[in-house]
Amino acid sequence: MSKRDLYELLNQMTLPEKVAQLTQLATPFFKGSSKQGEITGPMAAMQITDEDIPNIGSVLGASGAEEIRSIQKQHLAESRLGIPLLFMSDVVHGFKTIFPIPLAIGCSWNPALAEESARVAAKESAVSGIHVTFAPMVDLVRDPRWGRVMETTGEDPYLNGVFAKAQVRGFQGDHLKESKEHVAACVKHFAAYGAAEGGRDYNTVNMSDRQLQEMYLPAYKAALDEDCKMVMSSFNIVDGIPATANQTLMNGLLRGDWDFDGVMISDWGAVKELIPHGVAADKKDAARKALSAGTDIEMMTDCYASHLEELVAEGVIDEQTIDQSVLRILQLKEELGLFENPYRGADPVQEEQIIMSAPHREAAKQLAIESSVLLKNDQTLPLQKSQKVALIGPFADNGDILGQWSWQGSKEDAITLRQGLVNKLQEEPLLAVGSDISEINATSLEQALTVAQQADVLIVALGEHSTMSGEAGSLTNIQLPQAQLDLLQSLAELDKPIVSILFNGRPLDLHGVIEHSHAIIEAWFPGTEGGNALADLLYGDENFSGKLTMSFPNSVGQIPVYYNHYNTGRPKGAPDAQVRYVSQYLDSPNGPLFPFGFGLSYTTFAYQEPVLSTDQLTSDRTLNLTVKVKNTGNWTGTETVQLYLRDLVGEVVRPVKELKDFKQVKLLPGEEQEIHFTLTEEQLRYYHSDMSYSSDPGDFEVLVGPNSQETVNTFFTLI
Ligand code: NOJ
Repeated sequence: MSKRDLYELLNQMTLPEKVAQLTQLATPFFKGSSKQGEITGPMAAMQITDEDIPNIGSVLGASGAEEIRSIQKQHLAESRLGIPLLFMSDVVHGFKTIFPIPLAIGCSWNPALAEESARVAAKESAVSGIHVTFAPMVDLVRDPRWGRVMETTGEDPYLNGVFAKAQVRGFQGDHLKESKEHVAACVKHFAAYGAAEGGRDYNTVNMSDRQLQEMYLPAYKAALDEDCKMVMSSFNIVDGIPATANQTLMNGLLRGDWDFDGVMISDWGAVKELIPHGVAADKKDAARKALSAGTDIEMMTDCYASHLEELVAEGVIDEQTIDQSVLRILQLKEELGLFENPYRGADPVQEEQIIMSAPHREAAKQLAIESSVLLKNDQTLPLQKSQKVALIGPFADNGDILGQWSWQGSKEDAITLRQGLVNKLQEEPLLAVGSDISEINATSLEQALTVAQQADVLIVALGEHSTMSGEAGSLTNIQLPQAQLDLLQSLAELDKPIVSILFNGRPLDLHGVIEHSHAIIEAWFPGTEGGNALADLLYGDENFSGKLTMSFPNSVGQIPVYYNHYNTGRPKGAPDAQVRYVSQYLDSPNGPLFPFGFGLSYTTFAYQEPVLSTDQLTSDRTLNLTVKVKNTGNWTGTETVQLYLRDLVGEVVRPVKELKDFKQVKLLPGEEQEIHFTLTEEQLRYYHSDMSYSSDPGDFEVLVGPNSQETVNTFFTLI
């Protein structure tokens, strides 16, 4: 359909038909649905009538080729103008083949693999009938109390942008209309949802425009630069106004400055939530404010459906505003080829072959390998097959390793750690649960100790239940539950080597784990192939290369703790610093327990001093940096070489360091390679006091290293 055809279609639509396009409802509302669709948020009582349903624009949470074909068929039979439904779902890190959670994907520092994971997720969801995924989630995060840190790639604006692009490419491919294997992406949650005060989900966000522009917005922009088709507004306020009704954010920035003309959808119920936020008097007022701000689709409440017609009749809303939103939705349907083929990829026969196919599981395994982070290793790992192993803990044989956003994933399909070890060793390990996630009793502890006594080495599988993170999964205590700490302490008294493997969705406070473990693996929620991936890593058939993309705090009292913070006027550790009157805690270090970028390997790498092609950079001449990195250990390993910059004197205060680039290199034992980076003037730009974005002549420090703390450095000048 040409643009003109779309206009013609629009002209044939009545106002009620147009308004219904702007409403999204969950599966149970639709005829042809055989089962109750998955509900991922509160269901408000809605004044949606039977007459509205045939005109509704989109469906939330349906899946399955048969199911979706049946809903679409019924819908087209009843829709006067034959406008197909759009099916949207949360395919966040895999559809049925579940990949590691996004925070883990970030730790792979491998955007190509992240792209592949999104491609696989798209392929599986498209064949199951889905058209749009509510992903990527790119919110920058600094507070591990917030359960949704699991859904994002971490604390760095640049890295989040790199992964945002990779995921959009993977989901959408290059030819959305022709390809039935891709889905449209919806970047979320616009904007700054990750900055909820106190880490409490849905809470207030309060930040300066400078922080917003510099830290929080770049990843959304990166997704849109990759032609991401949709944007979801966030629940929170941005400078005092909920995002969903925020003119400055939506019409001003998103549609204005960024020129986004795709579809904007509210988050679940966020239009109606303008009322409790206190910026709308009632549903009618909420409808007016959200639509005027540019929110095209209202998800799961009926403010639009119940009040937009009235608002047009009263002259409060211009019908053209509604037309614009409808046109954007029709345009997306057109871009997905739905007018030609409303069933698109939905194919029950192919569904059987494609979903959870061997290559998909293989990709999930590879990402699980690359996203696990080795946090500690007192030469306990890798294990030898000759060692007698006892596998203990609530995650020893637990399929709850998919994470909270694994909607279609099944725990029964997940390779548990026990199964992974059996696949590797061809025999059952000694096994005991020891404790539940949050409860321990004398009998189970006794069993664990008995089993442990028979072993040479203990693998202790600990973690959080998947519902302890994710949406509405905020915590104030981010240590492992006491029951598991008690189990670990009792095991430690046996004086055997302990390898702790952590399955969880957030950076944890690891006190109680670190002192009792000889090795610690942060496995996150590693997805369907988790057990196989971990078995390969434990026995050295694969090496660790994952590095943290979110700092692990020393304690909850330090939060937020993140690497790209500002300096203070009284920095701790400065050469002339006083003992007391510096910016510090009396009872804790300032820095994290494990910093951004940190992760060990079975081998070691040595960095030489970086060398610059010249120490002067100009706006029209780049500068090359070379650093030699050598594998100084006995294992082949992949190193992520990270490059950070510091602006020594800015017009406004600048972060102590900012990640600007990274390269992965695989080195054989003893092998050395030169790693090259190009520095440009563009990388030195920032928001000035008048919010202009430019660089200033002056001196810069460039730091290169294996993580954000251990770096080698040199200096250059921008002239
Ligand atoms: C609410 C969540 O915040 C959002 O991420 C999700 O896409 C929607 N629910 C739809 O399930």
